[in-house]
This record gives sequence, C-alpha cells and structure tokens, in this order.
Amino acid sequence: MTTTVITNIGQLVTNDPEADDLLGIVVDAALVIERSTVAWVGRAADAPAADAQIDAGGRAVVPGFVDSHSHLVFAGDRSAEFAARMAGESYAAGGIRTTVAATRAATDEQLTSHVARLVDEMRRQGTTTVEIKSGYGLTVHDEARSLAVARQFTEETTYLGAHVVPEGATPEEYVALVTGPMLDACAPHARWVDAFCETGAFDADQSRAVLEAGTAAGLRGRLHANQLGPGPGVRLACELGLTAVDHCTYLAEEDIAALAESGTIATLLPGVEFSTRQPYPDGRRLVEAGVRVALATDCNPGSCFTSSIPLCVALAVREMGMTPAEALHAVTAGGAAALAREDVGILVPGGRADLLLLDAPSYVHLAYRPGVPLVAATWVGGRPV
Ligand code: NIG
Ligand code: FE
Repeated sequence: MTTTVITNIGQLVTNDPEADDLLGIVVDAALVIERSTVAWVGRAADAPAADAQIDAGGRAVVPGFVDSHSHLVFAGDRSAEFAARMAGESYAAGGIRTTVAATRAATDEQLTSHVARLVDEMRRQGTTTVEIKSGYGLTVHDEARSLAVARQFTEETTYLGAHVVPEGATPEEYVALVTGPMLDACAPHARWVDAFCETGAFDADQSRAVLEAGTAAGLRGRLHANQLGPGPGVRLACELGLTAVDHCTYLAEEDIAALAESGTIATLLPGVEFSTRQPYPDGRRLVEAGVRVALATDCNPGSCFTSSIPLCVALAVREMGMTPAEALHAVTAGGAAALAREDVGILVPGGRADLLLLDAPSYVHLAYRPGVPLVAATWVGGRPV
C-alpha cells in the first residue's frame, strides 16, 4: 500500500472540530495520505515514514473547497443582460427563461462539455466538491437530462424544477408537474430538492409543496430564499428542518433567530451581490448570532457567473465583516455541512484526502491577495490532479 507524506507545511488548516481554534491550525506540520484518505496529521517532526515524500516548502495546506451551490447545467450567454445591469437595469428572476430556451435547444453533449469546462475551471481554483442543480430545463425531459448530465460530475445533484414557472404554464399546473411526473423522472438522478422561494418565482405554499413532495420521494431539502427582498423562505426552511437555505440577503431579526435555533445552514452567495449590485448579506451578524454559515459561488449565467471560491472568500471578508478564518471555514467545513457531508471540508484521519497547497505561507492570503491564483497543487481523493 502506498503512502505519501506532505511535509514542511508551514501552516496546515485541519478544521478539526476538537481543536481550540476555529480552523484547527497546525504549524510546521505534515499530513500523510493513504489511498483516498488522510491517514495522519500532526507536527512534521513526529510524522511517520511514508513511501513517497512531498516538500511543501513552508507553504500553507487547506482542505479543498466545497462549493455547495451552483447551476452549471445551462447553455447560452447572458453577458448582455449583465452589461445592461451595470448600466442601471435591475436583476429580475425572469431572466432565467432566456437560459431555459437555450438549454432546451442544446444537445446532451453540448451540456456535458459545458459543465466539464466549468467544473475544470472550479477545480483550478481549488474546488474539490461541487453541488450542481438542474433548473434550466423546466420540462420533465429537460430537467431529468440536466440532472443526468450533472451526475456525471458529482453525487451532489439538486432537483430545481421549481426554479421559475415556464412560459405557457399556470403556477398551479406547473407545481403539479414539479411535484408529480417531473419529480418521478428526476429523483433517481438527484440527492437534493430545492425551490426558488421569491417574488416572481414560487411563494411559500408552493415551495413547501415542492419540498414536501421531494422529501417524501427520498430527497433532502434545501431552498433559495430572501435573495431579492424580505420574505417567508428562510423561516420556512428552518421550520421544515432543511439542511441549508441559500442567499439570505434580506433577513429580519426573526429570520436570524430561526436560523440560530434550527441549525439550518445559511449559505451566503456574495458573488450574486457583487454581480447584481445588491447589498451584501450581513455575515458578521449571522456569525455573532450563532448561525452556521457556508459560502458558495452560485455559479449561474444570470445573477453570478463566477466559479471562484477565492473571490467569495475575499468578498465575505472585505464586504460582509467576516474574518479570514470564518470565511475559509465557511467554504470548507461550512460547505460540507451544507451538503450534509462529514468526509470533506476537513483534514483529519479518516477524512477524504481533498486538499490544496497554496502558494502562500498562510490561508489569510486567500483574502489578502484578491484575484491572485494561489492554488499551487490540488489532491482529490488522495490523487494529485
Ligand atoms: O441562484 N435565484 C435563482 N436562481 C439563480 C439565478 C438564475 C438566473 O438568473 O439564471 C440564483 O441566483
Ligand atoms: Fe442559485
């Protein structure tokens, strides 16, 4: 059996929940990989012998990023909509329909190669686990094939038939489809069910119906909520005990209290606020209220077309009052919690060996050096990629 030791790690972020500090930092560290998992972590001076050795040169090693929210299965281009927004137009949920038309017209091969390109782009920026949603098909056939495409890249696939009501359907007819035949066709390809609970998309009762039908079919629930304005979505997610509720841009005190009490993860998506010129969610307030926070890209063609977790870290620190440690935790352990995963986002014995060597002495550089590609090497399941 082959083992590899990465030694001379100046700063190792383990996210060990048993540690005294948030990130479970070990300095002058080493980490041993055995097959696909982490076999040992500790001080380099104490490291066991291994078959192969890699010298980190005093640089930092962190868990691979877990991007718990993306919409990568789509076709078409909405850069003109972005340009119009930057010239003063506001973002509206209806833009989704433009992508729906392009996605329906694309072949499976075109969709697959587009997802492959984006997953590769994410990988080069340190993402080692990604969640991918459907939501630009909005027919039984197109939602099911979107999920089948996504499944080629990740286990973390999310059925988002309830993204928006497509042209030609009434909301009642469409919710019946999403909770009936579309769910039957999609559930075999999905782990999660999601809905867009927002003015212009689905209201609380419709979102509840979608989530209840999805969970009855064996899927786990997550929700898009409080992105474009205040609303009932966050409280609905907490009431239903969903794993995560995503966006959380416009929160009332009672929403924050419900999040803190329920343990539902608040996934903040600051690339959306960056790309829509909306106010950022108050990350500091959530952390101080005891809410469990994740950060993710929301990579999609409309509200935010970035694949970069490091950008999200920089925005969370600069614009949302989070410390560099809180932001890194939110894109690793936080993302893992938002996907109910215990094997990723953490570098402790028994966890998956998904890790990043940074071209930096400290993880702080992820926020301190915005826009700079700092991922020097990546291991996924113990293999360098
Ligand atoms: O997460 N909020 C809903 N869906 C996407 C945007 C989709 C689009 O504009 O194409 C989001 O922001
Ligand atoms: Fe989204």
